[in-house]
Amino acid sequence: MKIAVSGKGGVGKTLVAGTLARLFAQEGFKVLAIDNDSAMNLSYTLGISKETRDKIIPISKMKELIKERVTIEGGGPGIYNINPKVADIPDQYKITGPDGIELLVLGSIEDPLTGCLCPENALIKSLLHNLLIKRDEIVIVDFEAGLEHLGRGTAKGIDLMLVITEPTQKSLELSSKIIELSKKLGIINIYLIANKIIDDNQITVINQKMTDWEIPLYHKIPYDKEIGKADLEGISPIDFNPNSKSLNAIRTLFYNLSKLKKEIFDL
Ligand SMILES: Nc1ncnc2c1ncn2[C@@H]1O[C@H](COP(=O)(O)OP(=O)(O)O)[C@@H](O)[C@H]1O
Ligand SMILES: [Mg+2]
Repeated sequence: MKIAVSGKGGVGKTLVAGTLARLFAQEGFKVLAIDNDSAMNLSYTLGISKETRDKIIPISKMKELIKERVTIEGGGPGIYNINPKVADIPDQYKITGPDGIELLVLGSIEDPLTGCLCPENALIKSLLHNLLIKRDEIVIVDFEAGLEHLGRGTAKGIDLMLVITEPTQKSLELSSKIIELSKKLGIINIYLIANKIIDDNQITVINQKMTDWEIPLYHKIPYDKEIGKADLEGISPIDFNPNSKSLNAIRTLFYNLSKLKKEIFDL
């Protein structure tokens, strides 16, 4: 099963992606988590030690690798291979964390305005395609808000698109754009998840919006002070307090997704 997690910066994508990854791993599934968020802090939420985290080099920064795979011999500037060989990269560069979880940090393109970053983009796009189409473990991708690296062919591999939203107008507007784009890309199972919920009135407002977009609110996760405490201590939320209210809500989400997985795959 391939799960993509998207949403505006700061809404809780990484919290949801990382915690779901750990929960699947704890149930004995082989899980490969992919960090394609520009904040690149999925490793922290997965509970990977600081020592290991400090050594991570995202694929987008591996100049030699990018050159080796994307450059075409004899090609001039701006000429590069848009279909590079990537199948060996995940196993070579993934790192292992708690519960046997595996992580590949793709990184993202920091500033697309500062010149042509086409080689990096080409490699990351190809890698995502490989990860979502060719791998057979559970793959959970913590995505860049705009789904920049997602083409139609790659989107086909996504079984579940989780769109995370906060109870703010800005976040809801971006969610609606992501939902629209996901539909255009042909993704069938799109689920909206409200995070940092404080009261039921927020849910009422979100539900009103959702009817316009024809996507029901699938799940809600409460605002939880324990998450801030975990952040302050630098401990991943699932290791800091696995039974806090937001963690319990994410666990319920995990159970519901596990049931969906059965429906989708074990018909
Ligand atoms: N349910 C929640 N309750 C309290 N704080 C939260 C909750 N979800 C996320 N946060 C906090 O909000 C910030 C952004 O979360 P994060 O998962 O990094 O978002 P994103 O990956 O979408 O940018 C972090 O400081 C995180 O700890
Ligand atoms: Mg993030």
